[in-house]
Amino acid sequence: MKTHQIAVYPGSFDPLHNGHLDIIKRCCPLFDEVIIAVLGNESKEPLFSVAERMDIIRSEISGLRGCRVESFSGLLVDFMDQQGARVIVRGLRAVSDFEYEFQMALMNRRLNNHVETVFLVPKDEYIYLSSRLVKEVFFLGGNLEGLVGQTALARLEAVMRESGVTQEGARPVPNGD
Ligand code: PNS
Repeated sequence: MKTHQIAVYPGSFDPLHNGHLDIIKRCCPLFDEVIIAVLGNESKEPLFSVAERMDIIRSEISGLRGCRVESFSGLLVDFMDQQGARVIVRGLRAVSDFEYEFQMALMNRRLNNHVETVFLVPKDEYIYLSSRLVKEVFFLGGNLEGLVGQTALARLEAVMRESGVTQEGARPVPNGD
């Protein structure tokens, strides 16, 4: 008997970029339900609040069936238990991602043996893309066309307006993938 298969795509999403969106579009057809889970851990010093990151994602995925956005804090496997999910989806870009992803996958399995991690590879044009680079390039005045959605771009511009810095101005770029 086929069960309702729920997958969780967790991340910081600070902010969502087109590489993330590509992974979401690839995993949605593979599962009955995909939960995009935004990490609420402020110790990573994100640029955007959890609510802002969730808003950006919601606006970019509107029209995509079978996925929804949630936030979580604490252990990912505990959140998965609460949601009745057994599959973690992660994007794998380059060899440099492998060690970190491998460690997380094994730790999550150690924490909950019923959880499986599935890796998806984004379109090659996004293989180098990260949220950290998006923020850095934006605040240094670079062109992000085709790399982030309109909502993320508008939110980045709003942050810049509110903080009163120019794109060329020196602004510390928070961490985060
Ligand atoms: O986009 P990111 O920042 O690489 O995502 C990392 C994330 C959110 C998947 C990871 O930090 C996470 O799952 N954090 C929750 C805490 C947890 O469960 N830690 C143990 C798993 S290794």
